[in-house]
Amino acid sequence: SPLPVIVSGIQPSGTLHLGNYLGAIRQNIALANDETARSEAFLFIVDYHALTTLRDADALRRYTLDVALDYLALGLDPSRASLFVQSDVPQLTELTWIFLCLTPTAILEKGVSYKDKVAQGLTANGGLLTYPILQAADILAYTAPGRDLVVPVGADQKQNLEISRDTASRFNEAFCPDDPFFPLPEPYILDEVSVIPGLDGRKMSKSYGNTIGIFDEGKDLKKKVMSIVSDSTPLEDPKDPDADNTFALIRHFATDDERAEIAEAYRAGGYGYGHAKKALLGMIDRHFGEARERRRELAARPDDVRDILQAGAEAARARASDVTAQVRDAVGF
Ligand code: ADP
Ligand code: NA
Repeated sequence: SPLPVIVSGIQPSGTLHLGNYLGAIRQNIALANDETARSEAFLFIVDYHALTTLRDADALRRYTLDVALDYLALGLDPSRASLFVQSDVPQLTELTWIFLCLTPTAILEKGVSYKDKVAQGLTANGGLLTYPILQAADILAYTAPGRDLVVPVGADQKQNLEISRDTASRFNEAFCPDDPFFPLPEPYILDEVSVIPGLDGRKMSKSYGNTIGIFDEGKDLKKKVMSIVSDSTPLEDPKDPDADNTFALIRHFATDDERAEIAEAYRAGGYGYGHAKKALLGMIDRHFGEARERRRELAARPDDVRDILQAGAEAARARASDVTAQVRDAVGF
């Protein structure tokens, strides 16, 4: 269908890692930059969300700029996408309130992040309880007539997208059943990269401290790659590439020929995990070499990056104001 609207947020709550890159950022950039798709993309840095856990204004500002630098260095063309900071679109908070008034509390209490926190015996704040509805606002705010809303998501985000779909339905049923205003947002999931393992083999996540940063390089990068957990199969024995954490990363950075060759070497024996890690290191350096240079250049001119974010925010506010005006009218404001 014509002109999908691509919507995706990323948290500014720490250094972005290869899981974020392979599971989200790379596809977002490819989708946004794709001229033939003629899509419209809203890519944003979700500082409202980060505030559910972060209590450090300087860190939040730094992480926010870092995500923008990462996106641009990794090749996002700002003329093909609106890249902006979530809190520059205050209409989102009004939409969130309206949606919250339609949301049964039981649904919020079933939220994964909220349930996890409570299960760990921690106190959850109201932001954490209600953030799936802010996320619904994040998506539905960029509704445009006759277009699909497409949300590229990791497999772990399916529940939240369901909540966004339900929120759209609830609004339509309550206020415009005969002429539904909101489309049901569609997930865009790449199965192949659904879960990238971290250094310890669990899902790569900043919560587990098992990450490789997208812009790690030199000694730091080497130390991390060499610490990827492998089993104790002796060097000379055959190994199963599909059961190894290093190969799980090699898979995404190798050319087809390299991937086949290395898999064959694993199976043949005489190829150690140390060899595989060296190969991975070279591939990561190759893959991110140019992006590292671009990031250094961009970091030296943060005002240009802020200009890009401002332009993105203007486009996002224009759409979100339109949508909010119609929503206000529908509910009787
Ligand atoms: P983290 O788990 O480090 O906090 P986030 O939850 O902020 O990462 O994830 C941001 C995006 O990156 C999401 O779309 C998520 O699905 C994707 N993502 C994060 N970790 C991975 C991973 N290990 N494998 C694949 N995708 C991931
Ligand atoms: Na997460």
